[in-house]
Parts: sequence; C-alpha cells; structure tokens
Amino acid sequence: MTAPRWVPAWTAEEGTARALAAFAARFGTDGAAPSVWSAPGRVNLIGEHTDYNGGLCLPIALPHRTYVALRPAPAGSDVVRLASAQEPGAGLIELHLADVGPGTVDGWTAYVLGVAWALGQPGALRGGADAPTIGGCDAVVDSCVPYGAGLSSSAALEASVAVALDATFGLGLAGTAEQPDDAGRAVLAAACVRAENEIAGAPTGGMDQSASLRAQAGHALLLDCLDGSVRQVPFDLAAHGLALLVIDTRAEHALVDGQYAARRTTCEAAATRLGLGTLREIHGTGGLAAAFASLASAGGADSDVAVRRVRHVVTEIARVEDFVALLDAGRVREVGPLLDASHASLRDDYEVSCRELDLAVATARAAGALGARMTGGGFGGSAIALVEADAVEAVAAAIAAAFESAELTAPAFLLSPPSAPAA
Ligand code: GLA
Repeated sequence: MTAPRWVPAWTAEEGTARALAAFAARFGTDGAAPSVWSAPGRVNLIGEHTDYNGGLCLPIALPHRTYVALRPAPAGSDVVRLASAQEPGAGLIELHLADVGPGTVDGWTAYVLGVAWALGQPGALRGGADAPTIGGCDAVVDSCVPYGAGLSSSAALEASVAVALDATFGLGLAGTAEQPDDAGRAVLAAACVRAENEIAGAPTGGMDQSASLRAQAGHALLLDCLDGSVRQVPFDLAAHGLALLVIDTRAEHALVDGQYAARRTTCEAAATRLGLGTLREIHGTGGLAAAFASLASAGGADSDVAVRRVRHVVTEIARVEDFVALLDAGRVREVGPLLDASHASLRDDYEVSCRELDLAVATARAAGALGARMTGGGFGGSAIALVEADAVEAVAAAIAAAFESAELTAPAFLLSPPSAPAA
C-alpha cells in the first residue's frame, strides 16, 4: 500500500521568499522592490450551500496560503503586469486596468484583475466613498493552497490581491495583522465576491472570501450571510486531543459549471414561490412543513427536488446553530453526529456529493473518526474528518488504502489548525 501523501503548508518565511524569488525571476532586481501579502484558503466546518440562502456557515482559515509579491506601476500608469509561479507557461500577462470588465478576462487572472476592477467601481469602498484610483502594478503569485480541491484557492488569490491593493493604494480597509479592521475587511470581501461573480463568472455565495479575510487564528468564523455579521468562535481542537483531517479526494471540482448555479437557482425560485426573501426565513419544523406543503402543491418532479433542496438548507442552518452551541459549551467531542448528518443531507437531499467523497467519509468513520463530511461546494473536492490527534496517520492510511483498492486517484491530506486571515 502506498503511504498517504501530505500537503504541508509553507511557513510565512518560505512563502514570502518564494514570492520574492518568483518576482525577481520575472521582473529582475532593478526598480522598486515589491512587498508581499498573503491570504489563506478555507475549510468549512459546517453550513454548506447556506451562504447564498442568507444562512449561517462556520469556516476556518487554512494554514495554506497564496502569496503575492506586488509593487505599484509608475504614477499615472494603469498597466498591470502579472505572472504566476504555478503557470510558468502562461508567461507575463500585461493589460490596462481600464480594459477589464465582465467578459474581458478569464482563467486565474480574472480573480486578480477582477478584484482591482471591483475596488474601482463606484461605491465600492466604505460608506460608498469614491475610490482612490487603483493604479497599475507588477505582481507575481505563488501558492500552497491545493488547486481545484474545494479549499478556496480562488478566494485566497482574491483576498491576497485585495489586501495588497488596499495597502499599496491607501484604501485604509484591512487594518493591520495585529489589529484587523473587520468592517473594512467586509468591504474587501464584497469586492472579492464581485470579482468572482462578475469577472470570473462563478455564481458563488461569499463564504470563502469572508473566511479568507475575516477568520481569526484559533477560531472558527460564524458568518451570518443575511447581514454579513460575524462572531469569532474559539476552536481549539488540540486542547481536546483532536485534529481536523482534510482529505483532498483529487476528484474534479469546478464551480463555473452548471451544477452549482442550478442549486442556487432552485433555492432562489423556491424562496420566491414561498413569498420569502431567502430560505433563512423558514423556521422550525412547523415552518418547514408549511414550506413543503406549498412547494409540493406545484406537483411534478421539480417540486420534489425543491422540497429536498429546501430541507437540506433549513436543516443545515439548524446544524450550524447546534454545532456552535456545542463549541460554546466546550463539548467539541460531541459534534461528530452533526458532521455525519450534514454529509447525509448534502449527499441525499442536495445531491452534491460523489463517489470519492462518500468513500473518504465512510472510511474515515470506519477508521474511528468522530464524524466526517464533504466540505465546500461538492461535486468532488475535499472532505473533513474529526479525529483523535494520535489517530491522524492511521485514518489517513485507511483512506489512502480504500482509494487504492477502489482504483481511484490517490487522495492528498492536509492538517488544518484554524489559521490567520489575509495580511
Ligand atoms: C463554494 C462557494 C461558496 C459556498 C460553498 C458551499 O465554496 O464558493 O460560496 O456556496 O461552495 O457551501
């Protein structure tokens, strides 16, 4: 049997050195030296497909980060020159910021240029203030956030660029690493969401960008997507002898395809049919029963699908509340059944799991995990398992062996203590 493959996070020194070296390789060492910013990927503990329904979710920031080395272009220039250490074949991409808009750029550059575009839009800044001009820049990115793994490599890229532009062009939003400005970061997160929705063309809900910008080390971020408010919930698994194992199944994960958008459309149509702003407004078993009756009265297969999608969203929001109540009570060892129930709901009602995710989750549980579930958008990507700290290796080995027996691509494993936000 092949040993599990671990994906370590770079240290800050390593990430910074890599970004600076990649910058020097691309732009030489003449001219102004760049500075380096970075932002984490995220893993969601619970509350999946709730963000675009005005619901609750509970992500943490990964220790795995995307680094950007950036310096401003000469005053008055709006030329952006971009390169990625992970896409050396793409060479240097160069264009005018004035030419960026919906439909003008694609691939990884859409996330970078989209953030610059969004921050320059009227009313994008705090209190609707006019944007100080976002000028051109030279930037090189590098990252240890696994790509296509459902761990928000795109949000990490957006958030790293957002804090870089904030500092470089004096937007005054992010605060410092020691004293983050959460309200300002919410503004940056909103710009990142616009970049993703309008420039990259992925209709995602906003959890990932908030996690990357607003999560705190040692905490899970309870995000209320109805009003964007947050609460930092202490989340110290090590103190309880536990660890969070992240399993990147390597099964393809893409949010730009139609399945994610279809889920969102079904939920929004159901809310409209129920006369609600969002599905968040459905409360308790009575509210759920009334909603089911109303949706079922339309008849046909579509109404059955709508009932199941709504059931997932409403029960998942309740599971977030229950999960947080257990954390607040210091009963983290008891959250396992909520993880399991979340997975079943995502698999059976929301239908966003897949064979690889189900196998990872079932094997983790059989190997002793307290609970496990898919995390992120689904259709591939990653699962999480809550395990005894001294059982991490054994659970990972069991999952690797199960994938090998099933003749699936070998998964990769990450450990993820709740880490620091973009800075
Ligand atoms: C992706 C999206 C998020 C969220 C999750 C599902 O990660 O980017 O906005 O909808 O899927 O919870």
